[in-house]
Amino acid sequence: MSTIANRRWVLAAYPKGIPDASAWRLEEVPVPRPGPRQILVRARYLSVDPYMRGRMAEGANYAASVRIGETMHGGGVGEVVASEHPDWRPGDIAESMAFGWQEYAVLSPDRTGPGGTHRIDPGLAPIESALSWLGMPGMTAYFGLLETARVRAGDTVLVSAASGAVGQIVGQLAKIAGARAVAVAGSQRKLAWCREIGCDATIDYKASGDLLAAVREACPNGVDVFFDNTGGPIQDAAMKSLAIGARVVICGRIAQAARFGEPEMGERLLGSLIVSRASVHGFLVFDWYHRREEALARLAAWGREGRLRFREDVLDGIERMPDAFLRLLDGSNFGKQLVRIAPPA
Ligand SMILES: NC(=O)c1ccc[n+]([C@@H]2O[C@H](COP(=O)([O-])OP(=O)(O)OC[C@H]3O[C@@H](n4cnc5c(N)ncnc54)[C@H](OP(=O)(O)O)[C@@H]3O)[C@@H](O)[C@H]2O)c1
Repeated sequence: MSTIANRRWVLAAYPKGIPDASAWRLEEVPVPRPGPRQILVRARYLSVDPYMRGRMAEGANYAASVRIGETMHGGGVGEVVASEHPDWRPGDIAESMAFGWQEYAVLSPDRTGPGGTHRIDPGLAPIESALSWLGMPGMTAYFGLLETARVRAGDTVLVSAASGAVGQIVGQLAKIAGARAVAVAGSQRKLAWCREIGCDATIDYKASGDLLAAVREACPNGVDVFFDNTGGPIQDAAMKSLAIGARVVICGRIAQAARFGEPEMGERLLGSLIVSRASVHGFLVFDWYHRREEALARLAAWGREGRLRFREDVLDGIERMPDAFLRLLDGSNFGKQLVRIAPPA
């Protein structure tokens, strides 16, 4: 073990707006050793997620920032290669959001909550699913749509970033709930996928011209549930199209990435809530980890029944972590963005 290095990406600087590759530095360090009740896990897949932009900033928001020189925060799934924990053996598969952008991580399985370590059954689904539809993004869609928005049969559900990790599950769960699903995404290719997985109507927000007219045409009776993954102009159009009693789930603000830390762009639309009597909910998946098992069991069952399909976008090699992350911010990713880590030669 001592001859193998651990390659890891550390944060080199706090960027302004959209980061470039100089925000990170690839380092080689010795593979760490697990302490008592810890395990050493070799990464097979690492996740990149939009929330990482928020960690690359001074000052915490809902979670602590990454410090300069610290390993980038992030989720990963891999194989246990050494264990000092009585319940874990080499060869077990472990997933954790506390993995970091690195090839080897020491994890503490006794830790609970969002940064906990979860045992993954490789017989259930490909192990990378634990970072996508059977992991944090799947839970976001599940709890955001079913619990926070309380979607009902007959609702019109409008979802932005609809072909992405969270969005593609939102659209399909809307259909499972008996709702009408309207997908907003940034290319015809992505929208074709949304239709293939059951969405009833689609809007290309980059090509539609008058976005408000496009939303109103796709949602003639108004939007009952707006699952907002982006903020920005899509949010403006949706907020002006709400049905009476609509529920708005504020899940993400990726349209704000280029203006990170600055005031939100767009119009002031809260007055329209008087007309629509709508409610707006800020949503954070970390609040729902106590119900993780329930969500994953139901998602897995729908997957087995063929009612949930999922698209991933996989790059190879830890060198690609910054590229993979930046793809989220310009929409180059098509589906859940992952990075596959090859075993050592
Ligand atoms: N609150 C929570 O607990 C929670 C948990 C997970 C994720 N989220 C949020 O959910 C959203 C989706 O996350 P994800 O992991 O599923 O990512 P994703 O949708 O797989 O990837 C990000 C997508 O955002 C879209 N995008 C990028 N810039 C945009 C812009 N300026 N305007 C509109 N769309 C833009 C791009 O798709 P297009 O090509 O369609 O533009 C891109 O593919 C993010 O905002 C994320 O922060 C929140």
